[in-house]
Amino acid sequence: MNQKIFVLFALSLSLVSCMQSHELPEEITLAGAGVVTKDTLYLGKTTYMEYCFACHGVNGDGKGVASKGLIPPPRDFTQGIYKFGWVMAGDLPTDDDFKRIIRKGLHGTAMLKWDIGDKRLNAVIQYLKTFAPKVWKGSDKKVGKWVDIGADPYTIARKSHAIAKGAEVYHSVAMCQTCHRAYGTKAELSRWNQKYNGEPLTEFDQDMYKLKTQESEFGVNTLPPDFTWHEVRSADTVSEIALRVAAGVSGTAMPAWKDTIEDNEIWAVSYYIRSLMDLKHTPGRASLMRKLEN
Ligand code: HEC
Ligand code: HEC
Repeated sequence: MNQKIFVLFALSLSLVSCMQSHELPEEITLAGAGVVTKDTLYLGKTTYMEYCFACHGVNGDGKGVASKGLIPPPRDFTQGIYKFGWVMAGDLPTDDDFKRIIRKGLHGTAMLKWDIGDKRLNAVIQYLKTFAPKVWKGSDKKVGKWVDIGADPYTIARKSHAIAKGAEVYHSVAMCQTCHRAYGTKAELSRWNQKYNGEPLTEFDQDMYKLKTQESEFGVNTLPPDFTWHEVRSADTVSEIALRVAAGVSGTAMPAWKDTIEDNEIWAVSYYIRSLMDLKHTPGRASLMRKLEN
């Protein structure tokens, strides 16, 4: 046997043994999908072994060969916690959430977008649930419902009004800067506080222009993004940002804001965040930062 053929042979043997390590049941009931057959799971497994296991690991524990040094690390599917569903933080995501996440990828992370046909995509989603049977398996397990924040009350016509209101919501109503950073001057913060809380601000948090690293349930700390600098992983449009703000980020310090602030405030703050994202790599960002330094 020449060397190349031997390597191929050894590789296929190890692949076969990987494939056998996680036994497939004849059929299984999974939240969000109902009864799933062995054929589907098998298709899911081959898809997973083709595209996903290098990062997420043969056993779904996030420790694949290509996972080393990745920040954020690949999701450990055995935990059964997922950040980016449009369900309230803590609930299980729907299959449509998984489809969107896998097809669009997560910006600024190693999780790229995957162009996988419908049948294989559905199969790999069911397969990755089998890594966390405690949360997915059984007819008593339920996925969450998508958060409902109604239609956009501002629309493009009142965009600048929404952005201005969003800045006030961000800094005075929700105080997003307790984890993320502030983007207003001290004079602005004081004025907004006067408007919403009835008094000017006299004392300012020393760290208000810094990002504050937060603990997470994933065994690593997570950084609340600076919207003018980092990528927002799961959202591009104002509506997608609004759904994220409403739903929160499961397993992290980022709370679900639905029912904590009003729906129109969620929309306004999302217009504001989009406007901050638009400053990325522009002279506008540099001048904002200069203004805040003075
Ligand atoms: C190059 C490495 C890499 C590969 C390959 C990869 N992923 Fe990921 N994946 C990641 C990283 C990193 C994250 C975590 C991102 C974060 O925490 O923000 C992630 C997160 C996820 C999540 C969790 C989303 C959430 O809401 O928490 C799912 C589901 C997922 N990947 C599915 C897949 C599937 C299915 C494949 C194969 C088709 C795949 N990934 C291939 C790196 C990878
Ligand atoms: C208690 C801390 C905390 C507060 C308060 C907080 N956040 Fe976050 N936020 C986080 C953390 C941590 C992340 C990063 C989560 C991750 O991806 O691991 C985050 C991420 C985000 C993201 C990016 C999600 C993505 O897809 O990458 C948005 C948008 C966001 N926060 C908006 C807000 C808004 C708006 C407010 C105020 C209404 C707010 N946050 C208040 C901690 C917080």
